[in-house]
Amino acid sequence: MKVNGKHYRSLWWNQNDHVLEIIDQRWLPHDFREQQVATMQDFADAISEMRVRGAPLIGATAAYGMALAMAEDSSTENLEKAWTFLEKTRPTAVNLRWALNRCRQHLQTLPETERAASALKLAHEIADEDVEINRNIGVNGLQLIQEIAKRKPAGEPVQLLTHCNAGWLATVDWGTATSPMFQAHDANIDLHVWVDETRPRNQGALTAWELGSHGVPHTYITDNAGGHLMQHGQVDMVIVGTDRTSRRGDVCNKIGTYLKALAAKDNNVPFYVALPSPTIDWSVSDGVAEIPIEQRNLRETTHIQGKTADGSIDWVQVSPDGTAGGNPAFDVTPNHLVTGLITERGICAASEDALTALFPELA
Ligand code: MRU
Repeated sequence: MKVNGKHYRSLWWNQNDHVLEIIDQRWLPHDFREQQVATMQDFADAISEMRVRGAPLIGATAAYGMALAMAEDSSTENLEKAWTFLEKTRPTAVNLRWALNRCRQHLQTLPETERAASALKLAHEIADEDVEINRNIGVNGLQLIQEIAKRKPAGEPVQLLTHCNAGWLATVDWGTATSPMFQAHDANIDLHVWVDETRPRNQGALTAWELGSHGVPHTYITDNAGGHLMQHGQVDMVIVGTDRTSRRGDVCNKIGTYLKALAAKDNNVPFYVALPSPTIDWSVSDGVAEIPIEQRNLRETTHIQGKTADGSIDWVQVSPDGTAGGNPAFDVTPNHLVTGLITERGICAASEDALTALFPELA
């Protein structure tokens, strides 16, 4: 997508320096900083410190990490070492393990002399596939927005609500939940998006920045406002992303998503999840019981980052000195609260039968 008129992906390969370039998302939306990722430690830090974040982007980054490992030492021992080193960087988003497994399975079959070139080619493929998956999620989600638009009285926009950032910054391009929004806006559909701030890390600010850059009308709201807006008929549909979805359609996403789903159910607001197929964990059935929830640094809750009056970026403390913080980073929305899953192959019910019918070769 575009930043100040220039097209960007959230990561790209620097052919000259033979390194990965990323956008260091810790400084957004206030400062746009590019960064080179050149060592294995850089890769681990980029993922664990959330310079890159969002399930699909974490997966693509890890694939480039495997490529770097193979360029340094293409032995099977180093392949396993790199897999283990990168796998522990973040626990919840399944795309990380999906990408690492895909790389490992492919590279294991090759002679060591071919691994470095092939690993880089595979990382490019994973990144390109992600773009195409998300573009197709947008095509399918657009139909839902079009149907709502047809029913709206003239002059009233389609009102969407989203949580966290399932935007292009969370993927390689397009985003998952935002892809239908961008495509609806490009199709001249009148729409407006309520953007949850998404404490503690305020990824909603990234979503607002993306929507603003693309000209999509939106309003930044506190996390607690969604239920009230739904009660008053101000939300036509919720679309969120996912970091891991179980085979029966339980959706693990950024903390607070579950509360939106409960409010949506109580108010008959359709609750859709944009789901790229690499985010399905076919080994998990009961998402609530089985998906590991990342517990992040307590400082993320007791402090908040923002732009100060002089334009610099700083952290301030919001809780009393010495107060303990608690910071589960994700929650799971059970499938019975999910109206439908918007995948790259079409929209389906949040159920094992429906997911299996759409992705028989993966199930
Ligand atoms: O902790 P993050 O920022 O990596 O969390 C990921 C997310 O942004 C969301 O949970 C998102 O909705 C799913 S990823 C497309």
